Amino acid sequence: MTASNSPLIIFQPSGRQGRVQTGITLLDAARQLGVDVDSVCGGRQTCGKCKVIVERGEFAKYGIQSAEAHVTPASADESDYFRRHPSKLSTGGRLSCVACITDDVVITVPPESQQRKQVIGKNAGTRPIEIDPILHQYYVEVEPHALGERRGDWERLQEALAREWHLQHLTIDITALRQLTNALKAGKHKVTVTVHGEENQEPRTKSQEPIPNPQSLIPNHTSGRVLDVRGGFHEGLYGLAIDVGSTTIAAHLIDLTTGETLATEAAMNPQVSFGEDLMSRVSYVMMNGNDGLRKLTESVIGTLNTLIEKAAKRAKIAVNEIYEAVIVGNTVMHALLLGIDPTELGAAPFTLSTHAPIDVKASELGLRLHPAANVHLPALEAGHVGSDNLGVLIAEAPERQDAMTLLIDIGTNAEIVLGNRNGLWSCSSPTGPAFEGGQISHGQRAAPGAIERVRINYATGEPRFKVIGKDEWSDALPDADIGATGICGSGIIEVVAELFRAGLLRSDGRFIENLELKIENGKLEESNPQSSIPNPRSYMRWHGPKAEYVLATAAQSATGKDIVITQDDVRNIQLAKAALHAGCKLLMLGMGVSKVDKIVLAGAFGSYIDPLHAMVLGLIPDCDLATVVAVGNAAGDGARIALLNKTRRAESAQLARDVNYIETAIDPNFQQEFIGAMHLPHMTDPYPTLQALGALPAKSANEPDGRSARRERRRERQEKF
Ligand code: FES
Repeated sequence: MTASNSPLIIFQPSGRQGRVQTGITLLDAARQLGVDVDSVCGGRQTCGKCKVIVERGEFAKYGIQSAEAHVTPASADESDYFRRHPSKLSTGGRLSCVACITDDVVITVPPESQQRKQVIGKNAGTRPIEIDPILHQYYVEVEPHALGERRGDWERLQEALAREWHLQHLTIDITALRQLTNALKAGKHKVTVTVHGEENQEPRTKSQEPIPNPQSLIPNHTSGRVLDVRGGFHEGLYGLAIDVGSTTIAAHLIDLTTGETLATEAAMNPQVSFGEDLMSRVSYVMMNGNDGLRKLTESVIGTLNTLIEKAAKRAKIAVNEIYEAVIVGNTVMHALLLGIDPTELGAAPFTLSTHAPIDVKASELGLRLHPAANVHLPALEAGHVGSDNLGVLIAEAPERQDAMTLLIDIGTNAEIVLGNRNGLWSCSSPTGPAFEGGQISHGQRAAPGAIERVRINYATGEPRFKVIGKDEWSDALPDADIGATGICGSGIIEVVAELFRAGLLRSDGRFIENLELKIENGKLEESNPQSSIPNPRSYMRWHGPKAEYVLATAAQSATGKDIVITQDDVRNIQLAKAALHAGCKLLMLGMGVSKVDKIVLAGAFGSYIDPLHAMVLGLIPDCDLATVVAVGNAAGDGARIALLNKTRRAESAQLARDVNYIETAIDPNFQQEFIGAMHLPHMTDPYPTLQALGALPAKSANEPDGRSARRERRRERQEKF
């Protein structure tokens, strides 16, 4: 067989090659060889998605000469397409649906023309995502209505979609049906159809053999729903990935054909005004009934609509081109978004309305997207482990790894997962608002002016710090230029860890002084401030038995008042970190491991935590510091993945069911682990990594002796933690 009637075609970058019949289109040749090339308009030279590059020159590796002349010349329509879309014009660029092969040729399929392209987002996460959304658009020509014809427009559209795109068993949304007749008229029987649904096409990998069926890359829907019909060729398929957090809401507007994040908008969750943390919002509903529930639901829907409008405006698209939204959140946010009474989540056994994924029309929720748009809420894992945690799992995929990975998403509730390909365990720990600045005397959210970094001179006890919005540390600025307004979560962690490292705090969290003696009976049992600091009081003040550490002076603050850390602040941080640590320990018990290989800090807060200080505090278990990583808003990234890849979306529902769950509120070991974790970094657990780094104060100087440990345990019981 000669090259003239059976030329060799090689596709790059896949390297797939084979001999094909002279005269077939490059697109058909690609499909015969199982090469992934996109197509929306069905070869009408309208969409440009099928563009490929015809390479020129000698390809010794394949033993062929490739040239633009080895495919048929551009037709008038193809030339017209490139004239109308000059940005698509490139050397050797051809529409593969029309260029036919005449001789041996090497073809490059550029990334934007691959149907299942990978994208790495610029604005929202950097994880590669294979683009394979649940929505597709098809350009199709419908037979005109003939005299005496009994079929309606919808029946003829179904037939055209089956003939040209192999779409079967479709239904049509009422909003699309209302558009249909006019769209056919406007487009002279050519329309663009948006279909939402599953495909029965088997996913392929690059290692698989070429698929012989030329139509094998055409999606074949088995349960699709037509959402929209527009006259003529229309491009515009967008979706939203939304993370509804207790404190903030972030919405990413994404082009579903390219995976590109076009706009990201965020706002405070307006429900904060009804209650700072989850339980106070549940209480609000309990006290105010349906009216309270309606207010909480309306407030979050209103904010989402504002974010959607802003994002669409920023991306210069119409809101009614947004056909899909994936929303993740904790279980209380999930219930309040859907208008479901969350009261049962306020107390054990924390009953969910459903743990299954939910698909609901956006219009039913009051979200202003395309009127037929779908909202997908991924599965919930358990009573207090929501779809935001599932989003973290989708993004990080610990179930595909060997490393024993601990995933921690810190908020007012910390959601924690531990495991690897041998199994996953999850739990939720009630950390409270301390890490977000709540219940801390001068705590505040991360905002300009907030102290975010702290270092203490271990010889003198003198602090220096850095505020958000200033590049320099406080000791490099005149006092009047610092303008500290308070301390945000990362600063709180650092100041407590630094106080401990400086020897100003004992491992039981008490400021070094004769505090214990005053509380007990004034007897000087531990008379010496064990700190090596000559005069720690110069940065400390005492109010009776309680101490406070002056972090920023009145001159350095924007409020004209000292910014201090009090004994109660330290206590609240201890309570929060002990809850988190105890949750980690329960999961380690569940998995039967005594150490973890890797710690992943998810969420915005996790990005700002210094791993060393977090470990000194005992917030996280001992682990090689090099393997402690912050991954940003992994929950939001998981929502993006579920939006852009229907297979990962489907898999996540099973993943949620496969995760073992520990209910911390009723676990008999929680209290014991909690008490041990109150100490810095822990009452009994060794921290060999910190010891090796010399990051802990000398044990003899700070560890309570047996007597004070007993006293501590007695006090713990009295305070009923
Ligand atoms: Fe649309 Fe080729 S498939 S231009």
